[in-house]
Amino acid sequence: MKTIQSHILSGALFAVATNALKNGLALTPQLGWNTWNSFGCDLNETVILDTAERIISLGFKDLGYEYVIIDDCWSAGRNESGYHIADATKFPNGIAHVAGKVHDLGLKIGIYSSAGTMTCGRFEGSLHYEKQDAELWASWGIDYLKYDNCYNEGEEGTPKISFDRYNAMGKALNATGRQILYAICNWGVDGPWNFAPTIANSWRTSGDLANVWDRDDVNCPCAEMEGLDCKLPGWKCSILNVLNKAAYYPSKAYPGAWNDLDMLQVGNGGLTDDEAVAHFSLWAAVKSPLLMTNVMTKIDAKTLSILQNPAVLAVSQDPLGSTPSRRWRYFVDDSGKYGHGEIQLHTGPLSGGDQLVLLLNAASKPREMNATLVDIFWLNGAEGTADQVQQSWDVYDLWGNRMSDEAAEAIIKASSSSSSANRTAGYNLEAMGGSKKVYSQTPSASSKMLMGSKVGTVRPSGTVKVHVPAHGVAMLRLRAKNQKDEL
Ligand code: GAL
Repeated sequence: MKTIQSHILSGALFAVATNALKNGLALTPQLGWNTWNSFGCDLNETVILDTAERIISLGFKDLGYEYVIIDDCWSAGRNESGYHIADATKFPNGIAHVAGKVHDLGLKIGIYSSAGTMTCGRFEGSLHYEKQDAELWASWGIDYLKYDNCYNEGEEGTPKISFDRYNAMGKALNATGRQILYAICNWGVDGPWNFAPTIANSWRTSGDLANVWDRDDVNCPCAEMEGLDCKLPGWKCSILNVLNKAAYYPSKAYPGAWNDLDMLQVGNGGLTDDEAVAHFSLWAAVKSPLLMTNVMTKIDAKTLSILQNPAVLAVSQDPLGSTPSRRWRYFVDDSGKYGHGEIQLHTGPLSGGDQLVLLLNAASKPREMNATLVDIFWLNGAEGTADQVQQSWDVYDLWGNRMSDEAAEAIIKASSSSSSANRTAGYNLEAMGGSKKVYSQTPSASSKMLMGSKVGTVRPSGTVKVHVPAHGVAMLRLRAKNQKDEL
């Protein structure tokens, strides 16, 4: 029989082993901004620093966005000692200088490379240079690595081969002693949701996300991940296509290890307001990293009020870190094709015993949608037996308190002012004790900022009924009625 002491001892040993494997980062999905979708290879020091300043002055940092990530096209090869050098035209003062400036603003900085001999833009990659590159980035003050999959010399085809190639960089990053968030970008090849959770903080689940809600696309043929017969990652995949692939493995994610459905396309044109709201809601709900890619100096009011919805961000950053599951999916238009004319229910637990309900209407007409408590709590017990089904629930619409266009315009106007004193405060989460701290607690029912607005109550064994726009979502938070209103 084990003594109490030996229990404590084995617990301590376990904790040490766990820490050696994981870096303690991304306990909630990472929030930030990346250069790629808007700037491609036209990036430079000015782009990074102007964006970082806007992230502060527009109030994004107050909401928890913290990583500013330099994507592809920053490298100018290696020097004689084999060290990466930054493109001196784009970064005349070097990347360590940019990192210092970003840190001075209270933000963190990320960089990009490929687990291949070249990046996808055909710049220098890091395969076989993992240790040297990780050490250099740590010396520059880098806090985040996005690690791509181009030109990998054929080192893929089984999960083990991919694992080994990506593990080499994970180990090298850990060995630097600097906390560097490790984001794998291998587009879902070899099923990273199976091999990456123990070595990385996130892994891309499919090919690049296009700035489009839904389309038939020969470049992205795998609409489904049923079985593993869909080996192609695809590229320029629509929002629905990427969502429908990721819906098959929510349970693989956990705090510190997330499914990455690719960067946000909110604010890049191409989506209606309802589609952009749905895209942001879905990505937040399924616990994808939320990396903005819009041009911050040209942000418009609607984009700001989507990316700055604290009630939705509180779901993304929920301390429980649970990824909801898709309960059902029906085709309501007559196209009969995957990704077109369908409706879905995604649901799962939030902290404090709350429940997330996300109803997606991907069809071309607005509709009334229903979700029964039996479906909403389907994972808590055999059909209809969950205790939660026998309770009453208050229903909160997480978009019910969206910032007005006028308020967003005022923030945008003030952010371009040279004087920080002129800044109009947006959602003042910092005043409430800092965004991370705010999100780490179950929101009080009276916090409109974090709860949205109450839209009704569901009785025991009842049904949530809600109007959902075409190509849109309803994103709801259910709170048990017998709970005290003020937590
Ligand atoms: C792709 C990657 C993109 C972007 C691009 C840069 O492979 O998925 O997000 O990083 O490479 O070349």
